[in-house]
Amino acid sequence: MNLISILKINKVNEDYFDYVDTVYDLINHPKVKSMNEYIQHGDITTLNHCLNVSYKSFLISKKLNLDCNSCARAGLLHDFFLYDWHNHEPMDTLHGFAHPLIALRNAEENFQLNELEKDIIIKHMWPLTLKLPRHKESYIVCFVDKYCSLTEIVISNLNRIYHWSLVKKSFVKNLLKFS
Ligand SMILES: [Fe+2]
Ligand SMILES: [Fe+2]
Repeated sequence: MNLISILKINKVNEDYFDYVDTVYDLINHPKVKSMNEYIQHGDITTLNHCLNVSYKSFLISKKLNLDCNSCARAGLLHDFFLYDWHNHEPMDTLHGFAHPLIALRNAEENFQLNELEKDIIIKHMWPLTLKLPRHKESYIVCFVDKYCSLTEIVISNLNRIYHWSLVKKSFVKNLLKFS
């Protein structure tokens, strides 16, 4: 896993090394690695999405003197549901409502979590899931998740449009050649 390129880091610094220290056991765990087998948005895997949410939440909460370690760890596990959500309806309800609880259960089965980390994971879909987050850190991960999701969807759609405009251009070019 090339963490530096996934996180789009130009220059490694102290923050990056602190981050890696904090999530080292998680990123080397086979079940966490298996999130790379599932697509989250566009062509972004669930693992890459979670790494982005985790790292951005870590940096913001560190700047604000909050619990950046819990933000990093719970951010990485917030979508630890381990299935392809595009063709799977868990617990007879919509993925959007069900997956925070599934992610929390999986995380608790595999790792030791503190109360803050549990709140971050279970509340990250707020306001879709009605219960209010109890901590500032939970709001940070919740909003960073929305920001990353939106960015991933927009970028993948732009890439698709760009790709199709290239295909169209070359098609017209070839058509003109043979006309
Ligand atoms: Fe989620
Ligand atoms: Fe997410």
